[in-house]
Amino acid sequence: MQITTTRSSNPVSDERLAEILANPGFGVHFTDHMFTVEWTPDAGWHDARIEPYGPLSLDPATAVLHYAQETFEGMKAYRHEDGSVWSFRPEENAARMERSSHRLALPVLPVEDFVQAVQALVEIDQRWVPEAAGEKSLYLRPFMFASEAFLGVRPSQHVTFMVIASPAGSYFKGGVKPVSLWLTEEYTRAGRGGMGAAKTGGNYASSLVAQQEASSHGCDQVVFLDAQEGTYVEELGGMNMYFVYADGRIVTPETGTILEGITRSSIIELAGKMGHQVEERKFAIEEWKQGVASGEIVEIFACGTAAVVTPVGSLKWDGGEVGTPEGGDELWKRIRQELVDVQFGRAEDGFGWMKQLV
Ligand SMILES: Cc1ncc(COP(=O)(O)O)c(C=O)c1O
Repeated sequence: MQITTTRSSNPVSDERLAEILANPGFGVHFTDHMFTVEWTPDAGWHDARIEPYGPLSLDPATAVLHYAQETFEGMKAYRHEDGSVWSFRPEENAARMERSSHRLALPVLPVEDFVQAVQALVEIDQRWVPEAAGEKSLYLRPFMFASEAFLGVRPSQHVTFMVIASPAGSYFKGGVKPVSLWLTEEYTRAGRGGMGAAKTGGNYASSLVAQQEASSHGCDQVVFLDAQEGTYVEELGGMNMYFVYADGRIVTPETGTILEGITRSSIIELAGKMGHQVEERKFAIEEWKQGVASGEIVEIFACGTAAVVTPVGSLKWDGGEVGTPEGGDELWKRIRQELVDVQFGRAEDGFGWMKQLV
């Protein structure tokens, strides 16, 4: 892919950047540049470019604003001790976007072009990658959307893929605290044949009211069950789940309608190497309730790019509650440490997960 570059004539000053990186928050500050490439049926992917970060001018009839034909990804760039910058399994994000694109009738951006786009943006904005201390990173948001101005309901004949980047602070600022969960019995995230396995905005739009329900019950996050039977645990609004048994087995839900996280699949490999039997299967909500009550389940954790791994505390639902599992030896913490150490270049990358960007 041939990329043309127009450098920003007004980059953020070093002083302001230092202030931002000292306390980046999440998703509020954006780097000096952005990457864009366009697609049409005749020309394919074309006009790849890096330009100064700034607002888009969109026709009010732009298809994505009406029919939500879009996909996105979430990943990070990590600075290592020697100053180099790396990302974690970027080809997996590219492959997931390819699967999402199929589901959303969007064109496929080749894996190597996706990775090249991410690398080009991180390279030009490398001063925005925070120092490794405190688990700060540069969050990367590749996204693809229907950019044709047309109100007919059909796949867009003009598509835009972009990458933007935003420095991110540690997820656990005030120390690790188990997340409390709300089990929604009213709303579901994804049905059979739907878009659950795709990373597309509509899934997040539909999760917001359930998240509001969770907050109104004093819970941090919401747990979704399968849409067909309301029996099987799927995932949280933005993280996958793991259940740890007293005998060392660990179970992660697999229903065909969850978003298969890259953290989730990395943990399958890592926990296997650590000697745990890993089961990917349907996991009934009753197994959760009974397993914690009986002491068979000793630990529950959630995982995703943002938090890496976070312990799960109590689960509440309309009319009931099950407490925080007890008796585990903090497997979540060892898995988290191992992943974070690989990401920041402090542990050997035995699986070949890291890709150097700069
Ligand atoms: C719905 C949902 N499930 C799971 C995940 C975890 O995926 P990953 O580990 O690739 O970040 C995410 C985060 O991207 C998510 O939004």
